[in-house]
Amino acid sequence: MKNRGIDRKVGRSFPGGGGLIAVLDAGSSKVSCMIGQVDPSGGIRLAGMGLTASHGIRAGTVVDMARTREAVGRAIHEAEVATGSHVESVIVNISGGHPLSHTYTAHVDIGSRAVSENDLRRAIAQARPAQEQVKMEIVHSLPVEYAIDGNRGVRDPLGMEADQLAMKLHVVSAEAAALNNLRSCVEECHLAVERFVVSPYASGLAVLLEDERQLGTAVIDMGSGTTTVAVFVEGRCIWVDSLPVGGWHVTSDIARGLGTTLADAERLKTLHGHAMTSAIHYHEEIDVPVVGDNDETHMRHLPKSMLGQIIQPRLEETFELVRSRLEASGMFALAGHIVLTGGASQMPGIRDLAHYILDRQIRHGRPSRLISGGIGNAGAIDPAANPSLATCAGLLAFAGEHPAELPLLPTEGLSQPGGLFGRVGQWLRENL
Ligand SMILES: Nc1ncnc2c1ncn2[C@@H]1O[C@H](COP(=O)(O)OP(=O)(O)OP(=O)(O)O)[C@@H](O)[C@H]1O
Ligand SMILES: [Mg+2]
Repeated sequence: MKNRGIDRKVGRSFPGGGGLIAVLDAGSSKVSCMIGQVDPSGGIRLAGMGLTASHGIRAGTVVDMARTREAVGRAIHEAEVATGSHVESVIVNISGGHPLSHTYTAHVDIGSRAVSENDLRRAIAQARPAQEQVKMEIVHSLPVEYAIDGNRGVRDPLGMEADQLAMKLHVVSAEAAALNNLRSCVEECHLAVERFVVSPYASGLAVLLEDERQLGTAVIDMGSGTTTVAVFVEGRCIWVDSLPVGGWHVTSDIARGLGTTLADAERLKTLHGHAMTSAIHYHEEIDVPVVGDNDETHMRHLPKSMLGQIIQPRLEETFELVRSRLEASGMFALAGHIVLTGGASQMPGIRDLAHYILDRQIRHGRPSRLISGGIGNAGAIDPAANPSLATCAGLLAFAGEHPAELPLLPTEGLSQPGGLFGRVGQWLRENL
């Protein structure tokens, strides 16, 4: 995998790649790699992609290093072939590792002079991971609010005279072991991890409209092994969470409930599944291959409503869990709209069920900012219409919107003139 014999290098550290960026969504059901860039109008221009089944990741966390490594290598290679480029580094999502949001307020003495970029960096450097027993690593430190001498609501403190600066940060941390295992799988494919981005934050960047991000919206990414949530208010991501439940659990409920294989359960779910039992006519029947004695398979005609009676409770439970997490964190009141994305959000009737449980206006979100000119290998699928590609597209959006997100950890890179220093200031001016 090391020498792919192609010259154009892709990655944020390789501007020679024509501004192309490579991103990797290490999902529980599929690993996808996109190579592309964000154009000035905000469109995410996709040059090519690679997509392969994932067997080494469960609930967003690596459980089998060899199989994950193989899937990562395959997805990257496919995207490289499609674009004629050589990927050196990638931006990677993280769904597992119990990502945790907390708010941290940093205080910096200014001493009656204008606030400088250095003061902002001093404030950011104070961010700490949430206190947990398991070792946590900071993934994001996002400024959400400033106060100058006790006066809150300051949008951009740079250049303002102050005695005391307070910076409220949204700090997202995840288990260091989960990040390190995923990083190792990527590095063993001779690729560097540029940085991690939590999945629902990325999905929100791909599917939310600007108004939704401003007014207060929760994006729920319903994947195979996880359901992840991010809340955006006033254009900023202020909270994320992850539940270890997704479409795979619906499939396994069906396999158990109907006595069929996982493969047949998956097929029955996508062909005949419905989130609302009440919407299924009682006359309708489906053929279910059932494994009997002596491992023989025979067909049983079962009422289709049986499928709904299995699917609905699992999805209800998932939305109830989401609601209780939103309520417990105080986010429910802020999330006036809800957008569903991820592969498992394609279940017919899911919008009605989500509306019933979450009591909010619900819409389906797709990565519609994707402009897929030049895709050589994506075949019939239109990536912009595919909600399971929301996270991957969002990683590209992240790279475009945050040319240099605030430094992950305070020490590294801070002493390089014109490095993160300059870019932090630029990011702050553009985003706050
Ligand atoms: N038409 C459909 N109806 C219902 N579920 C579907 C449909 N199509 C795909 N799914 C489900 O979507 C899930 C895959 O979604 P997605 O690709 O977003 O997951 P992932 O990113 O691999 O997983 P995760 O984000 O949890 O790590 C699978 O469980 C699959 O069964
Ligand atoms: Mg996913």
